[in-house]
Amino acid sequence: MKVLVIGSGGREHALTFKLNQSSLVSHLYAIPGNDAMVNIAEVHKEIAENDHAAIVEFAVAHKIDWAIIGPEQPLTEGLTDKLQALGIKVFGPNKAAAQIEGSKSFAKQIMERHNIPTADYKEINNKDDALSYIEQCDYPIVLKKDGLAAGKGVIIAQNYDEALEAVNELYISGKELVVFETFLEGEEFSLMTFVNGDYAVPFDCIAQDHKRAFDNDKGPNTGGMGAYCPVPHIGEGILNQTNETIAQPIAQAMHKEGYPFFGVLYIGAIVTKEGPKVIEFNARFGDPEAQVLLSRMDSDLMQHIVDLDNKKPIQFEWKDDSFVGVMLASKGYPGSYEKGESVSGFTLDGDYFVSGLTLKDNQYVINGGRVILAVGQGENIASAKQQAYNLVSSIKSDNLFYRNDISNKAIK
Ligand code: AMP
Ligand code: GLY
Repeated sequence: MKVLVIGSGGREHALTFKLNQSSLVSHLYAIPGNDAMVNIAEVHKEIAENDHAAIVEFAVAHKIDWAIIGPEQPLTEGLTDKLQALGIKVFGPNKAAAQIEGSKSFAKQIMERHNIPTADYKEINNKDDALSYIEQCDYPIVLKKDGLAAGKGVIIAQNYDEALEAVNELYISGKELVVFETFLEGEEFSLMTFVNGDYAVPFDCIAQDHKRAFDNDKGPNTGGMGAYCPVPHIGEGILNQTNETIAQPIAQAMHKEGYPFFGVLYIGAIVTKEGPKVIEFNARFGDPEAQVLLSRMDSDLMQHIVDLDNKKPIQFEWKDDSFVGVMLASKGYPGSYEKGESVSGFTLDGDYFVSGLTLKDNQYVINGGRVILAVGQGENIASAKQQAYNLVSSIKSDNLFYRNDISNKAIK
């Protein structure tokens, strides 16, 4: 099969790395891809990720059998619909179903209609009402802007003053839609679920992300500063409960309401005293969760996608080892940062996945906020963590920072 991966980040690097190992894949293309993928895929950097017309033209001309879309933007903008209209199979939901990620309001409403456990919420579509609301709500309160925000559209306000600042920041014209949510306490985890309409198969391996920029979950929210799997202290009981109360009901709900989902549904959940509750849904693999999960996956990803398409039984298989990924990000990220500084000291054989590097004069230089993920493997989380930080220490650059505590919650 000819397979096309859309996207240019570390998640897409891991996807191409994994798909390249599949005997079902005869030719692998990446648009736009990145320079770290050139040995595993035919990379077409000249085509932009948002140039849907060019992507569709390429897919038709190259007789692509399957397109696998990594990032949320092309999904919420309807790239799937355009490819499918020309008979190309796509792993990734259409525009209507991708709203589950693209609109917080859509996600909250469908969960409410189907009693899927999540934080209580209120939608407020103008600044005046928001100002009145924050005078009488309970704190902390969570504010989420409707629409995509690369993991950075969420503000947790501890008190009225912080909420006031958040309202001033989120309401620019005064007419924006913001979801106000009860703050939930507990440990977060990420569960990837393969979904084809009413058929849903969660990974039987949970991952945990580290959203905040700095150690001990301090600093601003980011796209993710590190991840590991499995998560030994979030056991089978929670996984089964998440499947029964969240994964199956949301797939059924979307199917029933006319938004059937096809692809991987990311369930971002939190373990509360009342059980797992949804923090967010994403319409795609997590980044950097994909890098550690696909490193641990022993079975054939492409076979799973084909089986999902045919609603056949899916049995994911996993290595016994644990995997810990530590993100090296540009100093300044998630705020502004410099581009163009060189980074060296890494290999491309599965120990590192590249998000924000490009080749210039035969040297890798920074071109993104999140830059490279070092993935350690070991017989338990502690040894995988040690290996990950060994890999981090061999990277040469003055312009990167990373967290020192990735996976610590699993090492007590
Ligand atoms: P989101 O983009 O919705 O995943 O939110 C980003 C991060 O904000 C999450 O990973 C949580 O750490 C935090 N967060 C979001 N919603 C809540 C909530 N209702 N209660 C507590 N923390 C939350
Ligand atoms: N790592 C979180 C995300 O991909 O949204």
